[in-house]
Amino acid sequence: MNRLRSKAIDEARDIVSRLAISFKIAQTYSVGNETVERAIDAFVLMLKPLLRGGERLDIDLHGDYFYINNARVRYSVQHYMNFDFLINEFRKRGLGNIAFSGDISRKHIQEFITAFNACLSTDIPFITLQGDVDIIDSIEVGPLKNMRSDSLMDVRRTIKKSYFNAVSNLKSVVTRVQSGQTVEVRKARLAVNSLIDLMLQEEQMLVSMTAIKDYDDYTYYHSVNVSILSVALGLKLGLNKKRLSELGIAAFLHDIGKVNIAGEILNKAAPFSDEEWEIIRSHPIEGVKTIVGSMKMDSVTIRSAIVSFEHHLNYDCSGYPLVVAAAQLDLYSNIITIADRFDAMTSARVYESTPKPPEEALRILVDRAGKDVDPALLKIFIRMTGYYPIGAMVVLDTSEMGIVCKSNAELPDRPSVILLFGSQKTRIDNVMVDLAEKGQGGNYLRTIRKTVDPYQYGINISEYLLEANA
Ligand SMILES: [Fe+2]
Ligand SMILES: [Fe+2]
Repeated sequence: MNRLRSKAIDEARDIVSRLAISFKIAQTYSVGNETVERAIDAFVLMLKPLLRGGERLDIDLHGDYFYINNARVRYSVQHYMNFDFLINEFRKRGLGNIAFSGDISRKHIQEFITAFNACLSTDIPFITLQGDVDIIDSIEVGPLKNMRSDSLMDVRRTIKKSYFNAVSNLKSVVTRVQSGQTVEVRKARLAVNSLIDLMLQEEQMLVSMTAIKDYDDYTYYHSVNVSILSVALGLKLGLNKKRLSELGIAAFLHDIGKVNIAGEILNKAAPFSDEEWEIIRSHPIEGVKTIVGSMKMDSVTIRSAIVSFEHHLNYDCSGYPLVVAAAQLDLYSNIITIADRFDAMTSARVYESTPKPPEEALRILVDRAGKDVDPALLKIFIRMTGYYPIGAMVVLDTSEMGIVCKSNAELPDRPSVILLFGSQKTRIDNVMVDLAEKGQGGNYLRTIRKTVDPYQYGINISEYLLEANA
């Protein structure tokens, strides 16, 4: 279609992201400030070659997505915060389009940002903005079309926000512990409780966030994922809200004993030496020390300490730390062990760079049932995830190919799938099909034939799951 679409999806993301950064910084500093100017210059530098030869670049907001010259800009985890910020800023002003053309310069963008910030103090922000932008060469604006309050869209945004908030809360909890301060249980509790509230409303969407593994900071996202998966399993067991909260916090803190392990060891690509293994294996006990030493003694603290101690011990107590006699693990430890293994196996980490597809991770867990993990709990976990968990890439009997985006508790082999390739191997954009759907003759329209490894197809699952309508 246009060269942006074919050539540079990443570039499109960068354009939106850089525009967001310029706006964001200009809310704190004046447009003449050096930091703002640097951000604007980076944006202008990206834009200039795209406007050569009289071309025009349109950034549109439709619903939850930005489009550049009519091509949808895909989400990515790294850019999520900037995108979300920019969507809000557009909506606040009733702005739906910014078009750049001609000889764009830093001055033009500075004038635009000034108008962009000033218009919010009026009752008619878009009209005011349009009036001010009229006198800027090379920039035009258009109104937001179909401004609708789509409740599903709002829920999806709330879920993404809570997920990323939980990650940033955990980061601040960990940073405090690293600097020798206490564990902020209040923060952990807030994050976990907001996740539980969402889980009660939109379990599938929240669980699907855990399948997005495209992160730089493995440990933080991992702990949030383990917390979500554990609470989801706890919910299936009928635990009440108070217990779910305890379980979620214990899961949130299960790897807190890793905070003082040097990054060179945690992020080491080569196999560990015996000495390094010993350090890694010390994290359950280090976690107990941190939790008991810095949290007030109550049931959350006690359960968190137990989970920290037991989460690598295995169901049959064959793991670490070494214990003198086998005993039955705490229920929370058994739940968190399953969530922890599943998330770890399906994530790319430094010392295990190829993540396993989720259905293979389930198979491995089944093999280890009764040894590493509690077999009864694992059954319930699999009923929850389906045989093909969210994020699995599947080939259908129609020869179509897609990614599982929603499980079906009644029919675990018939999840919903986002189709990526049609039967002729042609690329399809974001069509969701429900495999429980039957044709007129009463036969299922589509059935999973096999799973394939998305990494071999160069598919970035997170892009699709972040966008899925679930
Ligand atoms: Fe661990
Ligand atoms: Fe872990």
